[in-house]
Amino acid sequence: MGKTFLLPSYAIIAHRGNSYYYPENTMLSIKNAVKSSVSMIEIDIHMTKDHELVVVHDEKIDRTSNGKGRVRDYTLRELKTFDFGTWKGAHFSNQHIMTLKEVFNYLANENICLLIELKCPHKYPNIVSILLDEIGHSSFPKNQVIIQSFSVKSLIQIAQFDTQISLGLLVKRRNFWLQNLKLKRYRKIVDFINPHYKSVNSRWIAKIHKLGFKTFPYTVNTFQTGLKMFNYGVDGIISDRPELMIDIKDNIIEAGT
Ligand code: G3P
Ligand code: CA
Repeated sequence: MGKTFLLPSYAIIAHRGNSYYYPENTMLSIKNAVKSSVSMIEIDIHMTKDHELVVVHDEKIDRTSNGKGRVRDYTLRELKTFDFGTWKGAHFSNQHIMTLKEVFNYLANENICLLIELKCPHKYPNIVSILLDEIGHSSFPKNQVIIQSFSVKSLIQIAQFDTQISLGLLVKRRNFWLQNLKLKRYRKIVDFINPHYKSVNSRWIAKIHKLGFKTFPYTVNTFQTGLKMFNYGVDGIISDRPELMIDIKDNIIEAGT
């Protein structure tokens, strides 16, 4: 069986959950993204010392918790003792790091897709097989998952293990035109090219579509930029402010079609 990912039209993707208002990558930010009726939630994955996949953006926990040090130097049990909410506001103090399994369980009955970013895969031996195993054993439907990464090497590895999972290549702004030259060869591996929004224009979007990719620019947080992206013809928008993007989509884009 091939890939069966069903792409919502004009996907609105809550970046690290509803992260403008709530502590990023926590259950609170995910719950609030679900409440906002987004089509997709983006999360970042690292791995603990005892090989649990956890949802956190940075390699170190210093910025988003009251702890210090690298995720991979702690067991899950140790990481769970830290507070991952207070940095965003004292009233968020009850937030703890989540495992990917917890996210899958929470979203299992929601009609929502999950965009999982594999962070620093070269630093975590076996992370690809552990991730695919967790996806395979979870009750969250595989055809509602996209794995994305800046690491082409990891995406190639995933494609070799699993031909059903949808994949996205993230492209940094400074690499954009360089990567652009190689895009055609990535078509056999990835389904989405997700660039920094400042690299995008309508000509590039047309080209990316002609090559058979879909595209979600990141991270679009203003009204003007959101409107511009929709008018360029992107397939979705990755945003810290998903409600603002939903507003543009419902009241300007779809109302005008
Ligand atoms: O989803 C794309 C975006 O998340 C990539 O950058 O640093 O926010 O993970 P970053
Ligand atoms: Ca990310």
